[in-house]
Amino acid sequence: MKAVILTKYGPPEVLQVAEIGKPIPKDNEILIKIYATPVNFADLLIRNFKSITPRKFNMPFIFWLFGKLYFGFNKPRVKILGSEFAGEIETVGKNVKGFKIGDQVFGYCGPGMGAYSEYLCMKENGIVSVKPVNMSHAEASAVPYGAIMALNLIRKINIQPQQKVLVIGASGGIGPAVVQLAKYYGAQVTGVCGTPRLEFVKFLGADRVIDYTKEDYTNSCETYDFIIDILGKSSFTACKKVLANKGRCLFVSFKMKQIFLMLWTSMIGSKKAICVLSNEKPEDLRFIKELIELEKIKTVIDKCYPLNQAAEAHCYVEKGYKKGNVVITVK
Ligand SMILES: NC(=O)c1ccc[n+]([C@@H]2O[C@H](COP(=O)([O-])OP(=O)(O)OC[C@H]3O[C@@H](n4cnc5c(N)ncnc54)[C@H](OP(=O)(O)O)[C@@H]3O)[C@@H](O)[C@H]2O)c1
Repeated sequence: MKAVILTKYGPPEVLQVAEIGKPIPKDNEILIKIYATPVNFADLLIRNFKSITPRKFNMPFIFWLFGKLYFGFNKPRVKILGSEFAGEIETVGKNVKGFKIGDQVFGYCGPGMGAYSEYLCMKENGIVSVKPVNMSHAEASAVPYGAIMALNLIRKINIQPQQKVLVIGASGGIGPAVVQLAKYYGAQVTGVCGTPRLEFVKFLGADRVIDYTKEDYTNSCETYDFIIDILGKSSFTACKKVLANKGRCLFVSFKMKQIFLMLWTSMIGSKKAICVLSNEKPEDLRFIKELIELEKIKTVIDKCYPLNQAAEAHCYVEKGYKKGNVVITVK
């Protein structure tokens, strides 16, 4: 089968198509013929991992160290990128009960990656579900990572109807799902993103959008019950100015500084900082599928590239051009 191999760490050109052996599913696995897989944050991060210092990494040092040990310090140990996919089941292992040949599925393979290829094996109890009927493979492939992360994070803060939510980083992988899920739970949502993606975030249903390159969202008379900062780029001191009394600032990406802030604010003051880790489960994806079919979650495809142009797809995303999702189509 054909797969895009990460030959070494570096610029997009290190992604090269190669012919490799087709995987064989174990008794509890399904073999998926991949039709589409998006380019997401993790793909770019891992391709560039050699140059990612602990300082550049958005999470605590220990996560960076585990990442380096798992993905490789100087050369990649995980050779095929792609953590989300949509496709069709070609074969099932003899103990598989929940899926059958021909099922259209979508899913998230996490740090194991491997979706930039024609075939992928997944455990039947992995994060994989029947694909929503109202999305194409390209659209469905771009949903799982962001949606299940967002769902896990949002569940930890219990958003109530009419509460005001500020999403800093509303246009990337996780932010669009945070915006849509917060709307689903009845909140009034303001999304923060860069200029090219303002229309995209509006289209997702944000009540208001702020361009972080033109406006300081911490300098406003508006206050929010929750501030959700995807990249952890904001300062808690600045955010407190626009945080309502008893408001919470949730850092999706955080360092030790935010962890200390969480401990400190848990004891002192009415405005709290929180750092949370998501622990995604297969049922989360099934719930997301239902929300998609109820048209509560949508996705936007900006551009599709064939498998042999994976490097071009990475280049387009890395240059900051994308407005929505960029998907590698395999079929
Ligand atoms: N806590 C957890 O369990 C967990 C789980 C998964 C991932 N994460 C973390 O989540 C992060 C990746 O999230 P993602 O996939 O959504 O990333 P992403 O796709 O790269 O999106 C980043 C977002 O941040 C915005 N942004 C960039 N610079 C900004 C700035 N200076 N001010 C405000 N917004 C800015 C971007 O806006 P524009 O593109 O419009 O400029 C975009 O909306 C990683 O740091 C990862 O470690 C945490």
